[in-house]
Amino acid sequence: MVVAHTILIVEDDTGARTALVKALEKSGYRVLQASNGEQALQVIAKEEVRLVLCDIKLPAMDGLEVLTRIKKLQPQIMVVMMTAFGSVEKAVKALKTGAMDFLEKPLDLEMIRSVVETALQMPLAYTQDSEGIIQEFKHTNIFEGMVGGSRVMHDIFDTIIKIANARTTVLISGETGTGKELVARAIHNNSHRSGPFIVINLAAVPDTLIESELFGHVKGAHSTAFRDRKGRLAEAEGGTLFLDEVGDIPENIQVKLLRALENRTYERLGENTSHKVDVRFIAATNINLEEAVATGKFRQDLYYRLKVLRIALPPLREHAEDIPLLAQTFLQRFCQENSRQIRKISQEVMDMLCGYRWPGNIRELEKVMETAVVMSDKDTLLPVHLAPELNKTETKNTLSIPIGTPLRDVEREMIRHTLASVGGNKTKAAEILGIGTRTLYRKIEEYGLQG
Ligand SMILES: Nc1ncnc2c1ncn2[C@@H]1O[C@H](COP(=O)(O)OP(=O)(O)OP(=O)(O)O)[C@@H](O)[C@H]1O
Ligand SMILES: [Mg+2]
Repeated sequence: MVVAHTILIVEDDTGARTALVKALEKSGYRVLQASNGEQALQVIAKEEVRLVLCDIKLPAMDGLEVLTRIKKLQPQIMVVMMTAFGSVEKAVKALKTGAMDFLEKPLDLEMIRSVVETALQMPLAYTQDSEGIIQEFKHTNIFEGMVGGSRVMHDIFDTIIKIANARTTVLISGETGTGKELVARAIHNNSHRSGPFIVINLAAVPDTLIESELFGHVKGAHSTAFRDRKGRLAEAEGGTLFLDEVGDIPENIQVKLLRALENRTYERLGENTSHKVDVRFIAATNINLEEAVATGKFRQDLYYRLKVLRIALPPLREHAEDIPLLAQTFLQRFCQENSRQIRKISQEVMDMLCGYRWPGNIRELEKVMETAVVMSDKDTLLPVHLAPELNKTETKNTLSIPIGTPLRDVEREMIRHTLASVGGNKTKAAEILGIGTRTLYRKIEEYGLQG
């Protein structure tokens, strides 16, 4: 006999609670209820609860507090928060505290069933803390080969794990080559969505074809629509749709995308029937969408829908301490691919790599390393193997600070840039700055510069 999973509903509104209990019981689950946090904790102490659906707004102990306590007492219990539309900030905080997902009110019963089903299918081991998973990643490659030892990169890995299973839309921003697509793939691969990861690059598809590419069309809908065609949205059913360069989406399609995001429904070009789709959206942009909203190029409501969860990828020059590790990783990879045996990167080369501004970010570093490997016939990489631009232009050895900047900020920026220019090497940075290493450590701590 299959034993039904036990679900606990924590909700102070009797009407809403009863409706939820009924709906889930109808789906065959064993459902318990509590009208406040205290009661909820009593229930989980006595019963073997697998999943908790918890309202964020509760009298006395609020939902976030209940979540924190449950995760402390029984971290294996999965928690999905329920929140009023618009209070997503709290919901995002909940994800960071360990909630698996959140549902926005008014609740859609079909959506609840699908979230509950996904949660209950998850293996218990998955509920371990993200630190543990990050430690494992080196062996399992769950981050798509991404590397990074800096605090910012660590925070990004941590965020990827925490938000992977929510269905919430994610907006990834960052300059070109910072790893936006890699992060999107990593989120998908860490989720339990069984469908595919589908990409649509909105800057690459001609404006006139975007609608049909995204939503599909019926035969005859436009001059080249010779037969019915599925759109990328439908192809992503059960999986993730990656909207790359979302800032380039034409205005007339923004409304349609908004509808798809809000109701998970769409219509193919040339028909009136609407279809439901179960897709998680991840969008990426390298333009400043806030500015595009201010100048009227991008709809504000769409922007708000997209940015519920945000991941801002830093330019490489802001986490230059990762350059040595990245360079080594690429060296190994390209040596393998090109059957070379270069064992070392010379100190001069490393200094040049760490001092360069990297306008093309990690992708540019990757290319530079690839060329260097191909150019080299020694067992050590030397400056002559590097592309000429690394030897002269755009090194970031100057810092421009406007008159009137408080001295404290000048000091902080000077330390930050010096550290970046030496790849995070504190002894070297202290030497350049003419202060003791101890003083440098103290200042790093004081200004919160590095982990
Ligand atoms: N943390 C990382 N570790 C290793 N490789 C990385 C990392 N981040 C990015 N890369 C590599 O850098 C290249 C660029 O990454 P990606 O395509 O994800 O960037 P992007 O932000 O989408 O760039 P664009 O805006 O130009 O589309 C890829 O080849 C990717 O493998
Ligand atoms: Mg990209």
